[in-house]
Amino acid sequence: MGLSIGIDVGGTKIAAGVVGADGKIGARSHRDTPATSVDETAQAIIDAAAELIAEHKVEAVGIGAAGFVSADRSTVLFAPNLAWRDEPLGERVGAALGVPVVVENDANAAAWGEFAFGAAKDVEHMVCLTVGTGIGGGVVIDGELLRGAHGVAAELGHMRVVPGGHRCGCGARGCWEQYASGSALVREGRALAESGSLAAAQMLSVCGITDSSELSGPMITKAAAAGDPCAVELLDDLGRWLGEGLASIATLFDPSTIVIGGGVSAAKQLLVKSAQVAFEKNLPARSNRPHPSFGLAELGNDAGIIGAADLARRRESAR
Ligand code: BGC
Ligand code: NA
Ligand code: ZN
Repeated sequence: MGLSIGIDVGGTKIAAGVVGADGKIGARSHRDTPATSVDETAQAIIDAAAELIAEHKVEAVGIGAAGFVSADRSTVLFAPNLAWRDEPLGERVGAALGVPVVVENDANAAAWGEFAFGAAKDVEHMVCLTVGTGIGGGVVIDGELLRGAHGVAAELGHMRVVPGGHRCGCGARGCWEQYASGSALVREGRALAESGSLAAAQMLSVCGITDSSELSGPMITKAAAAGDPCAVELLDDLGRWLGEGLASIATLFDPSTIVIGGGVSAAKQLLVKSAQVAFEKNLPARSNRPHPSFGLAELGNDAGIIGAADLARRRESAR
């Protein structure tokens, strides 16, 4: 009883699962994310859910979407790295499926999954970062997901860390996600290779490629795990950006736990270590205050599915 569906809409894959009240995923379905069309994306989400609804009795569907979601949790107002603009996703998907649909920011969904069932299940105050194409943020305070006045709180990736810095997909300059995301990692790796660095040339050969334009985030994390010095340095740098930003985030929210997830967290301890070192160094009043603990997401790629499903299941009690 009490089954709901959670759907994580990623840049390349749409992953859906039937989730119980215990946060466990039963059946799953997948679709590729259509490259640019919002209509095809909505259809792929509907197809992935319909496949599961045909076999399971579900109460509600939760969708984790990588963008700014309205306070009523139905419209994607804007997505910096995708084509959604005022997209009535909840209405479209709900009309097609005939079940209640809750749209949630992808990182909020992942944060909720980790809070309810994962790395932060024993705490009441947590900050979760998903580090992938962008940086997603989710904040839980006193056991409640922080939503803000308009539903778009905790867009942590767009905190300015460099005045006048790189232009971001949100239109502003110097956002954190331009420095500490998977996209930033790849940009830096390519730039280093194009500068003629011998270490970067070595990294490309470890990755099995000759052209820097083929370089990807997973390639760099794999090379780093294999001990390639250039890849290790790139991830170390990324971790430093993460840790410094997190020091500011901790001054705002005073979490007891900081959880790092998303695709780039495949680099595991390498990334978390360097983030934690930079965090400890940069936390204001560091010797005179309690520090939060650091951890990796426990639910991995499933955090978004589990969190979105749980938030959809609890929809009555949601504001
Ligand atoms: C978006 C967020 C999203 C994050 C991770 C950011 O660029 O603004 O809404 O949560 O990427 O996907
Ligand atoms: Na968020
Ligand atoms: Zn931005």
